[in-house]
This record gives sequence, C-alpha cells and structure tokens, in this order.
Amino acid sequence: MLDKKIEFQYQLGHLSELDDKEQELIANAKQSLNTAYAPYSGFLVGASILLENNEIINGSNQENVAYPSGLCAERVAIFYVGAKFPEIKINTIAISVFSDSFHESDVISPCGACRQVMAEYEEKQQKPIKVILHSPNDQVLIANKVQDLLPLMFKSPHLKKYD
Ligand code: THU
Repeated sequence: MLDKKIEFQYQLGHLSELDDKEQELIANAKQSLNTAYAPYSGFLVGASILLENNEIINGSNQENVAYPSGLCAERVAIFYVGAKFPEIKINTIAISVFSDSFHESDVISPCGACRQVMAEYEEKQQKPIKVILHSPNDQVLIANKVQDLLPLMFKSPHLKKYD
C-alpha cells in the first residue's frame, strides 16, 4: 500500500486586504442575502460570480417546502452563468452568509454538491476559479481554485465506456 497525501494552500485575511473588484464582489454577495428565500432554515447565503468580462452575477439560496427541491446559492448563481453566458469564463466566486446561529467569524464552507458543480465548470473552462468565503465580520478565506476544495473529484472521463 502506498501512503499519499494531498495538501492545499489557502489564505485567511480581512476583506480590506482584497482589491477593489473583489471587495465589490463581496458587497454583491452580502447584498444578495436580501434575496435569499430561506424560511425553513433561516440560513441566508449569497453567492456572486465575477466573470472574465468584469460582469457580476448574483445568486442566493432558494428553499422549498419540499426540502430537496431547494437549491444552494452557489448553484443558483453558477447555473445561471452556465445558461446565460456559456462562453464567458468565471474568475471568482464570493460566498457570504448570515444566520442567527452562525458565529460572526465563521465562513461558510460550500456543500459537497456545490463543490462538485463549481469544480466541473472550472474543469470545463480550463481556468481556475478563485473562491472567496466571507464571514459576517468580514474575515475572508481564499482558495485559489475549486478543485482544491474537492480532491479526487468525480470527472467526466470516469463515465467513458470501454470499447
Ligand atoms: N446552503 C447554500 O446556499 N450553500 C451552501 O454551500 C450550503 C448550504 C443553503 C442551503 C439551505 O437553503 C441552507 O443553506 C441551509 O442548509
């Protein structure tokens, strides 16, 4: 048996250390908390995507009384980008959260399904998507690419049939 290890580097800091465009992106993610529809969990999530052409696309979590029918903020935003701007690459996604039960310095850690979806768009565009996780008190955690958050991800070649 071989022992293997996967490591990844990320950054922790304060919102004020980011450049103007990234601060604007986080302001959008925070603003998007207002459009979250989360009557069942009370957990509000905003996700904002910076495209290569500098346009910003916003999403928020959308719940449903049939619980599994709802969708996380990250996928609301990224599926919109995929549907509306399939040819435009994504530079960065910023995710912000608000909940009464969330500690103000906690950053949201995207769920497994959102990691898988974001990672596949990253694979498709062949360019890293930076992920900025933002806490209510303006701490930020930055991952350089989605696939850092999803080691050994399931990829489309795994579906190929053998002749
Ligand atoms: N949620 C997101 O929007 N993004 C995540 O990465 C994790 C969870 C939403 C789903 C649900 O509406 C609420 O947060 C509680 O799970």
